[in-house]
Amino acid sequence: HGLLGEVWDDEMSSNMLGNRLRKVVQNYQSMNKYGVQLSGPGGVSSRPKLSSHELLCQLKDKVEVTTLTPDLQPFSSLPWATQLPPNQLTSDLGPYRSCAVVSSAGSLRYSGLGKEIDTHDAVLRFNAAPTSGYEKDVGSKTTIRLINSQVMASDDHRFLSSSLYSSGALVAWDPAPFSADLTQWFNRTDYPIFTQYQRYRRVHPMQPFYILHPRFEWQVWQRIQDNMAEPIQKNPPSSGLLGTVLMMSLCEVVHVYEFLPSRRKTELCHYYQRFFDAACTLGAYHPLLYEKNLVKRMNQGSNRDIYTHGRVTLPGFSTMNC
Ligand code: C5P
Repeated sequence: HGLLGEVWDDEMSSNMLGNRLRKVVQNYQSMNKYGVQLSGPGGVSSRPKLSSHELLCQLKDKVEVTTLTPDLQPFSSLPWATQLPPNQLTSDLGPYRSCAVVSSAGSLRYSGLGKEIDTHDAVLRFNAAPTSGYEKDVGSKTTIRLINSQVMASDDHRFLSSSLYSSGALVAWDPAPFSADLTQWFNRTDYPIFTQYQRYRRVHPMQPFYILHPRFEWQVWQRIQDNMAEPIQKNPPSSGLLGTVLMMSLCEVVHVYEFLPSRRKTELCHYYQRFFDAACTLGAYHPLLYEKNLVKRMNQGSNRDIYTHGRVTLPGFSTMNC
């Protein structure tokens, strides 16, 4: 009692945002940088609200976690194709029993969740999120790190030289045109993901390093849009949701930390930086508000878990009967 109002409401809409952020989100909702084509019949507002089980099954059935392999065009005709892993990520990694997805949210600061996070068999982290110095709150184990092409290309993140990226397997992604084939994307990446990939592989040839097939990000996007009552931003989902779905394909059970904010909710953007912006938690470029609605609807854990631990519990695809 009195608590339910304080955890994420799964009907969050852009008109519940403050003035500034609402305008930014609306601006992105009408922009269409990646040429998204809306599919399906009728208006978005008339669709039935699916149950948790139905949403999970949609995700399992309609989203393929695919990574690039050297046999795919246009890579197969390029000399560096041999740097790509010969097998899919999903056949090389896991299966794991219990997994943790650690969002980079500021609300992880002073959470004391580190021990719990490290008890999981595999831990996924994002972008430049460090463990060193923050072990008490975020743990120290890194099994997989999901990084976006912007982080790979930015000078500040020292992607090629920093030891931050050297533990576990790396998985990279780049916002691709909506209906592009691999060749169109290759010629028009958002950031130079392939140049940076080749450079990194030369310096760290032994570290497993995968690139997500761009189809994956838009399949996840479609699951969000099809289940929301209003148009969402026509930009790819945030790393947070992409990583969560990735882990659902590798693990029996997935625990996501501070994606749905706990009682520690704060405008501090990341636990590792002194920068404040509500857009980090509510989204601007990414349809993050709607990603959180979807995750809240699929959550198998309690609202109390969200409130105290910022913890959501999702079943792995292998354990689901659809
Ligand atoms: O900022 P970055 O993308 O590296 O953070 C990783 C993920 O954590 C985000 O994609 C988002 O899903 C989640 N996040 C969040 N709230 C924040 C910061 C990050 O939900 N304040």
